[in-house]
Amino acid sequence: MNTLSVKVTKKTVEARDIVSFELMASDGGDLPSFAAGAHVDVHVAPGIVRQYSLCNAPHERHRYRIAVLRDPASRGGSAGMHDAVAEGDVIQISAPKNHFALTAAPRVLLLAGGIGVTPLLCMAQAMAASGADFDMHYCGRSLSSIAFQAEIAASAYGDKVHFHADDGAAEQKLDIQRLLAANAVGTPLYVCGPGGFIDFVMQSARQAGWEDSQIHREYFGAAAVSNADAHAFEVQAASTGKRYRIPADKSVIEVLAEQGVEIPVSCEQGVCGTCITRVLEGVPDHRDMYFNDEEHARNDQFTPCCSRAKSALLVLDI
Ligand SMILES: Cc1cc2nc3c(=O)[nH]c(=O)nc-3n(C[C@H](O)[C@H](O)[C@H](O)COP(=O)(O)OP(=O)(O)OC[C@H]3O[C@@H](n4cnc5c(N)ncnc54)[C@H](O)[C@@H]3O)c2cc1C
Ligand code: FES
Repeated sequence: MNTLSVKVTKKTVEARDIVSFELMASDGGDLPSFAAGAHVDVHVAPGIVRQYSLCNAPHERHRYRIAVLRDPASRGGSAGMHDAVAEGDVIQISAPKNHFALTAAPRVLLLAGGIGVTPLLCMAQAMAASGADFDMHYCGRSLSSIAFQAEIAASAYGDKVHFHADDGAAEQKLDIQRLLAANAVGTPLYVCGPGGFIDFVMQSARQAGWEDSQIHREYFGAAAVSNADAHAFEVQAASTGKRYRIPADKSVIEVLAEQGVEIPVSCEQGVCGTCITRVLEGVPDHRDMYFNDEEHARNDQFTPCCSRAKSALLVLDI
């Protein structure tokens, strides 16, 4: 696996439970270029790889900046970043990947919930640099949980960013219906944040006449999925013809790993795309938040960390 060696040159507390990390190439050179919406896979500790969105201006090549919210139920990703990664450390990351690209448009709406601000802050900087028009709405539980406030307020695009604190006065809260009504139907909308926030924004936009193709979203995590309805099925590795039985209480990834068939895995929740595997025959039962409805309907790939099968057998391109 190709990784980049980067040095943590700055670690800053940005808000309650949020720290940012400035990363520079450990050989002092330029880093690979990236576009707004990109993230990197960070190798936090052995066996723990987590995705973090780049939140600095996308024209910068001398550094990346990421910001990490501590998850109280962390298995080691965010907790490791907060507790064990310090200024001066050298860590391994992937080159930037982008599943949340900003498409050129004369005007866009950016809607951030909590730590979901990271890719959208990068988009705001890209839109500001290109001279395109945008409005960003950034919601948080309280002002103390809203990161980058001073930086945004002092920036050239500060007047386009509106902060909304859940525990603040009623008149500053996000009125999504009003916001949508004030914009042309179909204005490209980018949303990132907790699942409930994304779903609320998407539902409101659909009700206001937006098509799904005009709403772009990125989930950072998934709510625990109930596997109460799960049943056993088989998968077959196309390369060897070998079949494996997946019992109701195990994932495809787990069974294959036990049998020595390794598929790269990271989030185990169907949000990061690391484990995507091509499906050559059979019908997957998609349980991820990574693909959109159109991609699910094609049934030609799935996320074996959480998705299962509707058919008795899935033949996989492994
Ligand atoms: C494209 C992308 C970009 C991201 N960008 C950012 C960012 O900029 N900043 C940021 O802070 N985070 C970001 N994330 C989330 C980040 O990658 C980590 O998921 C997050 O830091 C939590 O990791 P953790 O190891 O601390 O928590 P985890 O141990 O992964 O736990 C996270 C939550 O999942 C639950 N959980 C534990 N095990 C499972 C399981 N097997 N199945 C389902 N749920 C489980 C836990 O109870 C907990 O609530 C991004 C994620 C993606 C996919
Ligand atoms: S490991 Fe993240 S989608 Fe499967």
